[in-house]
Amino acid sequence: MSRAPASTLTVRQVRSLGGEISVPGDKSLSHRAVLFSALADGRTVITGFLPGEDCICTMRALQAMGCVIEADSKTRLIVHGTEGKLRAPLEPLDCGNSGTAMRLMAGVLAGQPFASRLVGDPSLSSRPMNRIVDPLRLMGANIHGQGEKHTAPLEIQGGPLTGIEYTLPVASAQLKSCLLLAGLFANGTTSVTEKTPSRDHTERLLAHFHAPPVIDLTPDGEGKTIRVRGGSRLHARDFAVPGDFSSAAFWIAAAAALPGADLTITNLGLNGTRTGLLSVLLRMGAHISEGISDSSCEPFGNVRVYGRKLRGTKIAGAEIANVIDELPIIAVIGAVADGDTEIRDAHELRVKETDRIAAMATNLRAFGVAVTEHEDGMTVHGGSPLTGAKVGSFGDHRIAMACAVLGLFARGETTVSETGCIATSYPTFQEDLNKIASFHEGGLASFLGGGR
Ligand code: S3P
Repeated sequence: MSRAPASTLTVRQVRSLGGEISVPGDKSLSHRAVLFSALADGRTVITGFLPGEDCICTMRALQAMGCVIEADSKTRLIVHGTEGKLRAPLEPLDCGNSGTAMRLMAGVLAGQPFASRLVGDPSLSSRPMNRIVDPLRLMGANIHGQGEKHTAPLEIQGGPLTGIEYTLPVASAQLKSCLLLAGLFANGTTSVTEKTPSRDHTERLLAHFHAPPVIDLTPDGEGKTIRVRGGSRLHARDFAVPGDFSSAAFWIAAAAALPGADLTITNLGLNGTRTGLLSVLLRMGAHISEGISDSSCEPFGNVRVYGRKLRGTKIAGAEIANVIDELPIIAVIGAVADGDTEIRDAHELRVKETDRIAAMATNLRAFGVAVTEHEDGMTVHGGSPLTGAKVGSFGDHRIAMACAVLGLFARGETTVSETGCIATSYPTFQEDLNKIASFHEGGLASFLGGGR
């Protein structure tokens, strides 16, 4: 994927946030919709596809393996399914910055009758892939990465797989999905148990594509076991991707914490395994109303947020998986709220697109916020006046967007550098900010430079 020159986002303190917007399509669902329809038989029309770099990597990889995908606009794809019979790629498959692309695709490729190589950018190439390599090997896969953590590039010599019973050692929807996808190509049944629920898009989309997994609660009622039968066929079925809750999260959190704000987000994905941020904000004293218009396959609807002064809270335990991508923006709102906001049990943040604990602690301090860093999270000591700062994105889209939002609450000007990474998940971030924000000194938030 070509990389444009570095870019910078400049924002100033905001006077109000309001109006009605919708955000681009859900990233997790866009990956899965294009992948599952590529494996299905027949023709699937996907609307609301996220044309972000991450999902485009998945789409291109599938095209490179013989799947015909027509894009009649940036967000509407027509996928001609391969009936699960992909073709050997002639070149390495580039997953860019996307852990979801690499981990889900590895599950599929482990069971294909050909060799493949999955590569990624420097951030993705430093993320642990042993969490998928170890269980895939238990299924009989021939897969390896580099060093102890089996980092990318991943080399896969596809071949026959056998179903396993596996309990996830970390709450990870990418790992769960990788194994369920491998299970479709394995002999026998593959059974995956998660002790703490993670996002359940794979389970829902398998059902949408006519291959529903069997799901049972674990005896303690907290987790679940998901079973897929090897050889299950996926059948084409059109799918409309709703707006990405994790993108809307930046505006929902900002509006909730800004007294006087009144913001509505429409056509928003409201899957309960993703919307934990709403509970966190409500605990902080927020005023939010949620209306689900359709709850079939993937629930979606509208969220309206009214701003007021918030107070700190604690986020830990089983709630973490539900807000995993929202923790940077929660840390930001913790800085704006009165009192302490404590995030614990979030070790996973250390192995995201960057170490999000270290990155947020560094950037929050640049704005004058006191932060105590923990191995598994951080405590943000909120409520002090904030001053605009010059910070970097650490190459991580969510750090870049979270810090731009913090700039909306800080006196003076804030500059976030290396913001090209925002295009991985939210290509219209700056445009949407300018739609909903009125700034104290007039003017707009501005980007300098092109992409990365
Ligand atoms: C995702 C799962 C989560 C999340 C990521 C998308 C997915 O990662 O952080 O942005 O689409 O399955 P983990 O499974 O590593 O927690």
